[in-house]
Amino acid sequence: MDNSVIVSDIGKCFGHGNHKVRALDGVSLQVKRGELFGLIGPDGAGKTTLFRIVASLMLPDCGHAEVEGFDTVAQYREIRKIIGYMPGRFSLYQDLSVEENLKFFATLFGSDIKKSYPGIQPIYRYLEPFKKRKAGKLSGGMKQKLALCCALIHDPKVLLLDEPTTGVDPVSRKEFWEMLGLLQDKGITVIASTPYMNEAMRCHRVCLLQNGKVVGCDSPENIRRAFPFKVLSVKSAEMFRLLEELRRYPGCHACYPFGAYHHFYCKQGSVQADTLQQFLENQGYTDIKIKESEPTIEDCFMDLMSQGGKDGN
Ligand SMILES: Nc1ncnc2c1ncn2[C@@H]1O[C@H](COP(=O)(O)OP(=O)(O)OP(=O)(O)O)[C@@H](O)[C@H]1O
Ligand SMILES: [Mg+2]
Repeated sequence: MDNSVIVSDIGKCFGHGNHKVRALDGVSLQVKRGELFGLIGPDGAGKTTLFRIVASLMLPDCGHAEVEGFDTVAQYREIRKIIGYMPGRFSLYQDLSVEENLKFFATLFGSDIKKSYPGIQPIYRYLEPFKKRKAGKLSGGMKQKLALCCALIHDPKVLLLDEPTTGVDPVSRKEFWEMLGLLQDKGITVIASTPYMNEAMRCHRVCLLQNGKVVGCDSPENIRRAFPFKVLSVKSAEMFRLLEELRRYPGCHACYPFGAYHHFYCKQGSVQADTLQQFLENQGYTDIKIKESEPTIEDCFMDLMSQGGKDGN
């Protein structure tokens, strides 16, 4: 068995009648053992709902999910022994110290810090100097590390991390992902959701979720390679007017603002940079700069999401 987590055609609705929300709509995916798997999606896409179902904390309306061969409904007791779950909002006890939080979570699983130490050491060493400090007094990055240690304390086979780095400073985010890399060496399967595209790039595979549906799932490299449009990065004075202008230009598939440039996706072979430059000059634009760019993972997701939106209508 190569797959650690299997999700088959899961559906989940909340509410009733006119207020019904379809949080998950036929979601299927497989995560291989030892894989670092990213779950990407805008607010309300269904990421947290999917984590809860895989963690056996919520029942799906239909479909089924298994973790390491255990069914999340019928065998939830087994599941809880082998998963570590770090929910989006802190699960830590703010009034307990670092050490006390770890002890508490270890006790829950019938373990103790000493026994668990080898498993958490690569991460705990960052926290050890602050072990007497209350969790509530730690920085955001340190809290995340402590939450990760607590999720690892019972030596789980599968880690479920719901937006583990949201609201954390960039240096701590980078450190956190490096730590996840260390866990890979131990063969732990990790599923992490993130709104940050540079984090998506660190995953072996990523799944893009939108309105409760999977709109793409592959390695970041394959997703980029499959992008069907030439990308032109375009800037000038009057960026807002430029965006509207580019969107009207013949041969434009779509155009989105990306930092200092707009990314212009050209329908196959139809737009040349110098022709576009000439056109923009004729329209009175100044300080024009146009360069061809490699598609980023964000370009791919923007496009996949616009297609997903069309299917949904
Ligand atoms: N307990 C609940 N009761 C009612 N609606 C819910 C409940 N939980 C989630 N939803 C709705 O289901 C949809 C999916 O929510 P979910 O929290 O899974 O998305 P998410 O991708 O985690 O979003 P976010 O990025 O905001 O965390 C949303 O429309 C949400 O409002
Ligand atoms: Mg969520």
